[in-house]
Amino acid sequence: MDVLTEVKLPLPLFKKGKVRDTFDLGDSLLMVATDRISAFDVVFHEGIPYKGAILTELSLFWFDLLEGVVENHLLTTALPNSLKDYDELKRRSLVIKKAKPLPVECVVRGYLCGSGWKDYKKTGSVCGIKLPASLVESQKLEKPIFTPATKAEMGEHDENVGFDHVVKTIGEEHANAVRDLSLRIYKKASDYAEKHGIILADTKFEFGIYNDKLILIDEVLTPDSSRFWSANDYSPGRPQQPFDKQFLRDYLETLDWNKAPPPPKIPPEIVKETSERYILAYELITGKKFER
Ligand SMILES: Nc1ncnc2c1ncn2[C@@H]1O[C@H](COP(=O)(O)OP(=O)(O)O)[C@@H](O)[C@H]1O
Ligand SMILES: [Mg+2]
Repeated sequence: MDVLTEVKLPLPLFKKGKVRDTFDLGDSLLMVATDRISAFDVVFHEGIPYKGAILTELSLFWFDLLEGVVENHLLTTALPNSLKDYDELKRRSLVIKKAKPLPVECVVRGYLCGSGWKDYKKTGSVCGIKLPASLVESQKLEKPIFTPATKAEMGEHDENVGFDHVVKTIGEEHANAVRDLSLRIYKKASDYAEKHGIILADTKFEFGIYNDKLILIDEVLTPDSSRFWSANDYSPGRPQQPFDKQFLRDYLETLDWNKAPPPPKIPPEIVKETSERYILAYELITGKKFER
């Protein structure tokens, strides 16, 4: 499979994200997951082989598992007739409901890491939620917490905010609904993952309004939106090694790079290893072999 980092289609572009390009089909949207990769909110020039297919097939796996918990944006995996000859779109494209995205990143944390750990060290709280004293890095929280963030524009970083900020942005009814749904989805997914030897440390959801109803949009429970750890290697009191992007991040930390564009070049061996990590994540989570 060739890597795909730019998508050119005879369709109006609806939105170009860091990883996904979305096209307007009139009543619906075509969401194409490219092989682009971003770290520290910077998009790299190199594509990661199979990444778009992995993210798409993993989201489909979770949509299926979450049936009955939340309505999602999937309409069909079949390409529109006019695009049937575009081989590069196969396995990475979904026809989805055109929703109005709510401007909130709905993050759920079951473990204390990343920006949650940073905020806790500074203030003893995450997103205004006071946590017990003397927790250590990567510690499992007594119960999962909803820690929303702003949805930053391209090139900016998301920022953790309190629940009151979400209420102000989208209203109390929607704020309560996305919090409750996010926690329920996290519970279902983390229970599943745990049975497969995987810890879902934290994850981010996006919701949108469609026909006046709240639905789950975007990608779900992929390595790009979540931290998955191996339960076998878990040991609190230090950072854990997620299966996938941490490898690239660790490499980037060895460079003299200020984490602002332009991105440095990723060497071929790092590209290849990152691809293998994504494939491993897919296989461990779904229990299925990934078809190359
Ligand atoms: N069903 C949908 N309706 C409208 N917009 C959507 C839908 N699903 C996802 N999106 C938007 O499409 C974009 C997906 O591309 P992505 O590369 O993840 O972007 P980002 O750089 O914002 O993370 C996101 O901005 C997301 O809000
Ligand atoms: Mg995204």
